[in-house]
Amino acid sequence: MGMETFAVQPRDTAWHTLLYAAHHAFRRDLDRLAAAAAAGKGQASHVRAGWENLKEQIRLHQELEDGWLWPRVERAVRGHRAERAVLEELRSDHARLAPLIARVDAAMGDTGAGDAGAGGDLRAAVRELSEALERHLRHEEASALPLARSVLAEAEWVALAAEARGRCEAGTPLFVPWVVDGIGPVERSRFLTALPKPLRELNRVTWEPRYRKRRLWSI
Ligand SMILES: [Fe+2]
Repeated sequence: MGMETFAVQPRDTAWHTLLYAAHHAFRRDLDRLAAAAAAGKGQASHVRAGWENLKEQIRLHQELEDGWLWPRVERAVRGHRAERAVLEELRSDHARLAPLIARVDAAMGDTGAGDAGAGGDLRAAVRELSEALERHLRHEEASALPLARSVLAEAEWVALAAEARGRCEAGTPLFVPWVVDGIGPVERSRFLTALPKPLRELNRVTWEPRYRKRRLWSI
């Protein structure tokens, strides 16, 4: 398959579809998890499956940012202390999320004697994770992403889009249907039309049906 470029400006596409849309999906899934925990359904199998998928999406997103995006931004701002500090804070944000994710895991796995207690633990753990993630996402959206947008060349955004595409095809086929899950029709079509046509087709024929079958978060 040839190197097809995205239909609209790569910078805006990569920025919005890959980064912002994923942030939106993190928030949506954490709201779903909070609702499930509040209803005492944190142990339901589709809720667990939703959480497993969310963790995987967070991991992949951070991998793309920490392993690909931020090092390039860092190179571009070399020597500028204030900008470098922004990037360092993001790294420590990511490190801070890990134990909070582990705490949700532990609370979900806790089906022991004190069920009411376990439910309470899960609610508290989800709340803490949501707050920390929200702080982190705002931080990124307010400072790091605009910085990336201003210092990276168009070609680098094309490369980021290609990198993400490769990951979608190889190991993360559920990224696209996960992002568009439950979003409004306008945003949905904006997101999907920004994808190269072969990916859009792949999503329609394979990824989305597969994603829907999993019924993530249904209780
Ligand atoms: Fe991000």
